[in-house]
Amino acid sequence: MLLPIENVLTPETAAAFREALEKADWVDGRVTAGYQSAMTKNNFQLAEDHPLAVDLGDRILTALQNHPLFMGAALPFRVFPPLFNRYNGGQSFGTHVDNAIRQTAGTGHRIRTDLSATLFLTPPDEYDGGELVIEDTYGTQSVKLPAGHLVLYPSTSLHHVRPVTRGSRISSFFWLQSMIRDDGQRTLLFDLDMAIQRLAGEFPGHPAGVQLTGVYHNLIRMWAEL
Ligand code: NI
Repeated sequence: MLLPIENVLTPETAAAFREALEKADWVDGRVTAGYQSAMTKNNFQLAEDHPLAVDLGDRILTALQNHPLFMGAALPFRVFPPLFNRYNGGQSFGTHVDNAIRQTAGTGHRIRTDLSATLFLTPPDEYDGGELVIEDTYGTQSVKLPAGHLVLYPSTSLHHVRPVTRGSRISSFFWLQSMIRDDGQRTLLFDLDMAIQRLAGEFPGHPAGVQLTGVYHNLIRMWAEL
């Protein structure tokens, strides 16, 4: 499932992040690329242990924990500390698939990448190109979201970033291991969650709502890996 998640950060917070990031010292983005993706990757990144990356990354993780739509869609087990990248002057990232396993620099923790996320920090009218193009089961989707919005997509998808031909595109990106490994099972749980919430809104206190909530939790009990 490919899902846009709105307002992870307010436009003001996204602008403050961007202002701080614009002044930071960026390095060649190939530092986190695997052998194959290094050949097509052309962008800048903030080093994983850069104090600004750590600080802003923590603030993004807090915002995500307080975002019910993100939590319900991702059912996160472990989230990789958010990284930051910048594309300008025609830079792009060719078609690739993200590494299956990621190791955090500081802790040595390893996560399996079930979901990939890009949090857009630059308003779309400030740059040309830079669309994140994802080959989903339902076809190819081109994603370019307002500042502060995020897209969540299966890490199994082939994807690329189109050349940024005007302006500068700054984003945060990260991966996560979900409690529910299978994308189909996770999507089904998310649909059930949405239906339960709708039912609770339209028929507050209806016994069927309690019953379905039980089904939801029992499915998580059946499928979750911790
Ligand atoms: Ni990627």
